[in-house]
Amino acid sequence: MSRRALILGAKSAIAQALARRLAAEGYDLVLAARHSPQLEPFAADLRLCTQREVRLWEFDALDGPQLAGLPARVHRECGPVSLGVLVFGYLGNQWQALDDSGELEKILHTNFTQAVLALSHLARYLERREEPGGLIAISSVAGDRGRQSNYFYGAAKGGLSLFLQGLRNRLASTPVHVLTVKPGFVDTPMTRGLEGLFLVASPEKVAHDIVRAYQRKKDILYTPWFWRYIMLIIRNIPERLFKRLKL
Ligand SMILES: NC(=O)c1ccc[n+]([C@@H]2O[C@H](COP(=O)([O-])OP(=O)(O)OC[C@H]3O[C@@H](n4cnc5c(N)ncnc54)[C@H](OP(=O)(O)O)[C@@H]3O)[C@@H](O)[C@H]2O)c1
Repeated sequence: MSRRALILGAKSAIAQALARRLAAEGYDLVLAARHSPQLEPFAADLRLCTQREVRLWEFDALDGPQLAGLPARVHRECGPVSLGVLVFGYLGNQWQALDDSGELEKILHTNFTQAVLALSHLARYLERREEPGGLIAISSVAGDRGRQSNYFYGAAKGGLSLFLQGLRNRLASTPVHVLTVKPGFVDTPMTRGLEGLFLVASPEKVAHDIVRAYQRKKDILYTPWFWRYIMLIIRNIPERLFKRLKL
C-alpha cells in the first residue's frame, strides 16, 4: 500500500526534520509551502538519500479558498495521501498585536482559523478513503495556559488543541488517527533571538518523538517528554497567584 504524507508549512525547521524521518520510514512526500521552489535543493537531497518521491506544492495557509480543494487536487496530481501533517504557524509579536489588528488577525488566522480549515478538509478526505491514515498537527505548550507574553498565539494554539481533541473523538471509530503535538521551546527561526528560553530542543529530537508517537498511536505528545510535567505544574498554579507572575 502506498504511503504519502502531505506536509503543510514544509519550510519550517521542524517540518524538514520530520520530512527526513518520514521519508526514511518509507513515505513519499508532498512538501507544501510558500515560495516552494526554494525547497528544491532540500527535496533533491531527500530524493537522493531515500529514493522516495518528493514533490513540491505551492501553498499559502492564508489563501482561504485554496484550502477546501487542496486534498483532492494533491490526490489528482500526486496520488493518494495517507498522512496529513500540519506544521505551519506564526508566533508573531504579542506587543505589536495589542495595537495592530493586522498582526493580531495574522496570529489568530494562521494558528487557528486556517489550521482548523486545513485539518477539517484533510480529515474529510482521509475518512472518505476508509483506509488507515492520520493527521499530525503541531500545536504548542503555549496553548495550555494563557501568559501575558504570548496569549494571542497561546489562545490560537489552545483552540487548535481543543479542535483536535474533538476531531479525534469523532474519528475514533475510523481508521484515521489524530496526533496533537505540543512542543516546548525548539531551536528554529521562530524562537531565534527570543529571551527567556530554557530546555531548548533540536528540531531533529522533536521530529524523532513525533514519528515514534504517531507509530505508537499516541493521542497527545509533549516533546521533549518533560514538558508534560512542566505544564502539569503550570496548569495547576492557582489563578490568583498565576495572574501576578511575569511569564
Ligand atoms: N519553535 C518553537 O519553539 C515552537 C514551540 C512550539 C510549537 N511550535 C510550532 O511548531 C511549528 C513549526 O514552527 P518552527 O518552530 O519550525 O518555526 P519556523 O521554522 O519559523 O516555521 C514556521 C513555518 O510556518 C510557515 N508559515 C507561516 N505562515 C504560513 C502561511 N500563511 N502559509 C504557509 N506557511 C506558513 C513559515 O513559512 P515561511 O518559511 O514561508 O515563512 C515557516 O516555514 C509551528 O506551528 C509553531 O507554532 C514551535
